[in-house]
Amino acid sequence: MAIHTVLVTGGAGYIGSHACVELLEAGFNVVVVDNLSNSNPESLARVQKLTGKSLAFYEVDIRDKQSLSDIFVKEMPDTVVHFAGLKAVGESCEQPHLYYHNNVFGTLVLTEVMQAHQVKQLVFSSSATVYGITDKTQYSEDLPIGAINPYGRSKAMVEDILRDLAEADKIAKPDKPWKIALLRYFNPIGAHESGLIGEDPNGTPNNLMPYVAQVAIGKLPQLSVFGDDYPTHDGTGIRDYIHVIDLVKGHIKAIHAFNNAHFVEGNCKAYNLGAGRGYSVLEIIKKFEEVTGKTINYKIAPRRPGDLAEYFANPELALQELNWKVEKTLHDMVADTWNWQSKNPQGYR
Ligand code: NAD
Ligand code: UFG
Repeated sequence: MAIHTVLVTGGAGYIGSHACVELLEAGFNVVVVDNLSNSNPESLARVQKLTGKSLAFYEVDIRDKQSLSDIFVKEMPDTVVHFAGLKAVGESCEQPHLYYHNNVFGTLVLTEVMQAHQVKQLVFSSSATVYGITDKTQYSEDLPIGAINPYGRSKAMVEDILRDLAEADKIAKPDKPWKIALLRYFNPIGAHESGLIGEDPNGTPNNLMPYVAQVAIGKLPQLSVFGDDYPTHDGTGIRDYIHVIDLVKGHIKAIHAFNNAHFVEGNCKAYNLGAGRGYSVLEIIKKFEEVTGKTINYKIAPRRPGDLAEYFANPELALQELNWKVEKTLHDMVADTWNWQSKNPQGYR
């Protein structure tokens, strides 16, 4: 089999670094493009240590069209996995321009360069946040899109742009049509089981799992549980947590699926990557205490604006068309988070 080269944008980040490990282990050549705006190059040093394989790294912003184009000439990738983006919902409400420029314009530049070099296989990091408010708690891919903040809208806009690109090829019928997988992640948590790479948030974490881990290690004094009066079994919010290793394996399955009937003549398809079941905030705390033997100091606080009570994935389509499903358990997610956090109390610093 010919060795394929995958260009990974945002490969130094949390999910991207785990994807690099899985791609290298699956036999791909890996080229990372990352501007390090939310990551540390130490993650890539550790990816190479962990796998015993090397990758190419370019500290470049994907909006820098000339530099990106030079990388395509030199490295000749055949597929792009596109993680580069900003992801903090609150910041996106304060600085929408920053988010649209980075996430939407960045993807436009990337796809222009891809098209110019006839690289037309793309896996895109989308999010369950593209789904609008609905009376359903289980989300299938055919639900309407209706993101409620600039971050979510930036993802929804990129999905539209990518669908339009693939559609244009269906009309023009080129030899090499776009093949695009829009992967809608639910709540990624956990870390590589080695404890060498993991999530290293800048400043105080926004998300539940890194917050709990930092309370457990003593970096933060107390967790606020945002609301205990939701219509759920214990009153706290329910989410579909997915181990980051299961998540990145979904990307490799998507690359392989570009050769199957759903993509062979070109397509752009969305897939949920989730487990299909949720856990409440209190269940996460309890499991963390059980696995680590630590007591998590928490208080009940008011609901966080914009939060929904409960949602989780319908992951059937990914099973049928990508042959992918989660394998790891909540115990694995918690144990691997703690392994990373306790071995790296200051993250990569
Ligand atoms: P992350 O911040 O750890 O990684 C993103 C990486 O992209 C960082 O290394 C950052 O330096 C880089 N980057 C950002 N803008 C760039 C640019 N213009 N040019 C080059 N590099 C750039 O985030 P993550 O959690 O690994 O998320 C990866 C992707 O998955 C993001 O697109 C995010 O929106 C999406 N996503 C994440 C989650 C989640 O909960 N972590 C959920 C759904 C979707
Ligand atoms: N929560 C707390 N306390 C905290 C942090 C979170 O109680 O300090 C609760 C939230 O209210 C929610 C649950 O824990 O019920 C999960 O919250 P997260 O912030 O970890 O995750 P969200 O579901 O809010 O959002 C995440 C990402 C989004 C992404 C979405 C996809 O942050 O970017 O998953 O489903 F779009």
